[in-house]
Amino acid sequence: MADVDVVILGAGAAGLFCAGMAGQLGLRVLVLDHAERVAEKIRISGGGRCNFTNREVGPGQFLSANPDFCRSALARYTPADFIALMQRHRLGFHEKHLGQLFCDDGSEAVIAMLLRECDAGGVSRWQPCPFTAVRTAGNGFEVDTARGTVRAARVVVATGGLSIPKIGATDAGHRLARHFGHRIVEPRPALVPLSFAAADWAPYAALAGTALPAEVRTGQGRGAGRFVEDLLFTHRGLSGPAILQISSYWRPGAPLHIDLAPGQALDRALVGAKAGAQRQLGTVLAEHLPRRLAQAWLAPERPGAAAFPPPQRPLAECRDRDLTALAASLQAWSLVPDGTEGYRKAEVTAGGVDTRELQSASLESRRQPGLHFIGEVVDVTGWLGGYNFQWAWASAAACARAM
Ligand code: FDA
Repeated sequence: MADVDVVILGAGAAGLFCAGMAGQLGLRVLVLDHAERVAEKIRISGGGRCNFTNREVGPGQFLSANPDFCRSALARYTPADFIALMQRHRLGFHEKHLGQLFCDDGSEAVIAMLLRECDAGGVSRWQPCPFTAVRTAGNGFEVDTARGTVRAARVVVATGGLSIPKIGATDAGHRLARHFGHRIVEPRPALVPLSFAAADWAPYAALAGTALPAEVRTGQGRGAGRFVEDLLFTHRGLSGPAILQISSYWRPGAPLHIDLAPGQALDRALVGAKAGAQRQLGTVLAEHLPRRLAQAWLAPERPGAAAFPPPQRPLAECRDRDLTALAASLQAWSLVPDGTEGYRKAEVTAGGVDTRELQSASLESRRQPGLHFIGEVVDVTGWLGGYNFQWAWASAAACARAM
């Protein structure tokens, strides 16, 4: 029977990073994965360029039933630490907007770097190799795998979330956690497009492909989210960064509140443009919004449009109160999604292993000494923009240093 210090289940972002660091700290490490290739999610991340971290990272950019849990790990392994690692490996990077850092050489270069770190730590890798059971044995564990049973002093669960099952996501980590008595915060798709009932969406479906900046809000109190980013109309609903971000905060049945002209006083702009204007309402509105949206908003088949003047009416003939109501409908649009596009399209899974039963400094189980959970399998979910990888690196580092 193989005998190691640590078995890491899952060779994704968190698992590989933890393996390399633990190996270099002197531990005998085996990392296994059921997929043919390691780190498939890094491979497809950031459109193949891997948004590996963000310049500004703090607990406020993460969702969890226990919001302070991530603080310790994030403070002890920062974006600067990962940037220093990239620089040691001579990997260039560039910043897109909002502090998002991408690898110049693409995702494969990040994966190759993690594998070199594993090699430097003498890490063994078994793959494709599913595990079938984990049980306590003596002072440690026995892990049954497709290549036989392994004995280990510690087990690290790094099996990720449920998103994108076709590239290997499973609930194995959640099941293992339950087996050891852990609670699971109800998993749900996050960073995901939102969908609407076909009949409700019919007036907007023709807008598919239209994008514009928007402010989107939902929720209340600590569960409230608000983002100003681009919003994209799709055939079935809404997507784009603003919607992906807010989807992590959205709960079934709750409304979204959308301002389609953020930062503009649309009511004053419309009323102020009246003086002597023979231009039509639709034409003037299209100066403030994408033309297709302006047309669709005033189209008679859109519910609510009947309350406004028709698009061809000269602006000078529109009543101030109608223009004010039109502006309000665009800047305080409330609508209730009927669901999300699900794990097939979600970038991440919110929820997961309840952090109230983990030690924040080591990610070790409070129920089963020697058992650790890192990365996305844990109930810590970052915003869009490199935060989820930073959590993978930081939680992996905290775990590796504590073992
Ligand atoms: P990860 O999913 O990386 O790894 C889990 C591993 O466990 C996988 O290799 C899987 O095969 C393995 N596994 C699962 N079940 C198993 C079992 N039963 N037996 C053995 N192995 C098993 N984040 C970010 O910060 N910036 C970005 O640019 C992006 N972009 C992005 C794009 C897309 C399309 C997606 C789907 C996701 C992102 N993300 C992202 C999110 C990011 O990819 C994700 O949060 C991290 O990969 C999580 O790292 P983990 O190691 O926890 O899981």
